[in-house]
Amino acid sequence: MKVKHIASAILLAAITAACGGTQNNASQGLALKDVVADQFLMGTAINVRQAAGLDTSATNIVKKHFNAIVAENCMKMEEVQPEEGRFTFNDADNFVKFGEENGLTMTGHVLIWHSQCPDWFCVDKNGKNVSPEVLKQRMKTHITTVVQHFKGKLKGWDVVNEAILEDGSYRKSKFYEILGEEFIPLAFQYAHEADSTIELYYNDYGMDNPGRREGVVKLIRSLKEKGLRIDAVGMQGHMGMDYPKIEEFEKSMLAFAQEGVKVMITEWDMSALPTVSRTANISDTVAFQKALNPYPNELPDSVSQAWNARMKQFFNLFEKHADIVDRVTAWGVSDGDSWKNGFPIRGRKDYPLLFDRNYQPKPWVKEVIEEAEANSQK
Ligand code: G3I
Repeated sequence: MKVKHIASAILLAAITAACGGTQNNASQGLALKDVVADQFLMGTAINVRQAAGLDTSATNIVKKHFNAIVAENCMKMEEVQPEEGRFTFNDADNFVKFGEENGLTMTGHVLIWHSQCPDWFCVDKNGKNVSPEVLKQRMKTHITTVVQHFKGKLKGWDVVNEAILEDGSYRKSKFYEILGEEFIPLAFQYAHEADSTIELYYNDYGMDNPGRREGVVKLIRSLKEKGLRIDAVGMQGHMGMDYPKIEEFEKSMLAFAQEGVKVMITEWDMSALPTVSRTANISDTVAFQKALNPYPNELPDSVSQAWNARMKQFFNLFEKHADIVDRVTAWGVSDGDSWKNGFPIRGRKDYPLLFDRNYQPKPWVKEVIEEAEANSQK
């Protein structure tokens, strides 16, 4: 057993004893965060209602099973600076208050992203792209104001999100159109200038893709060559039953770590529904709807078993590489919270998270806790 695991086992034994527990009832006291106590942070995204204390079923799970949180939406550009010069931090301050009250490690998400970016940010009053100088100033003002508002409260920031495409080229966002590749190092520079103590991350999805993997490796190297701080790469980890291939995901984890940064799984979820290509016959909406929402009542046992096995396989991968993994964050608390219920069509029912709609841990979560308990009894 790895040293880290021995330490975890000792810690678990202590927790078990503290809970006055024996093998069979200790699991009431044990939590997911305890299983990986000294391997990596176990986190979850929380939404505005949960941060405001309006969803105690979910926040009870957060307090018991997680030691890290990220704001699903309330720190995004359109939420914190909806109009130029008007900053609104109410929801984000609730998030931080919840995190501080519960001793949770917090991550800021996200300083620069082409999506959920307010319409005014990259254009002038006539809707034309602003000059490079104007955009640089707007980025610097946004990043400086936001980072300094939360100074001393967060462990790190997703500085830039989803800027690299599957072939390793840059997404042709307005940031890229106006500033070229430079918008990324500028964002990291401004964030570091605003708070030199905070960790800085690049975050993206589909990171198992070899083209994107190479593009992100090049990006890490270019930031480091410029003497800029980058502490970790966020592999979002939005998965399905047939993607990513676990060996490709592992290759990317190792490739990023090779560049001297930590790896974070930042938005982990796994759709339990068949991946439906958008080329499906969408003119026949009934067939399309059925294809997109095949399990409107509950997940068939066979699918549930396959889903749990595949989630546990990835969890074991993260534990295998605990030396390079700093955090694993689920993108939501319970299945009902997930964005996947609204994508690619609203109103469908997915089962992608670690806790079900009754706020119960999924079978694989129970299994890893029970296995850790058993180890701690040895
Ligand atoms: O806040 C408004 C509310 O006022 C309005 O009544 C409601 C209905 O229109 O919409 C609310 O905004 C929604 C927002 O979530 C907050 O709930 C937006 O419509 C909706 O598009 C937005 O979706 C978020 C999505 O990012 C936007 O791209 C999801 O919750 C969020 O989980 C998702 O998260 C992203 C990560 O930030 C980056 N990686 C991909 C991931 C999934 O897309």
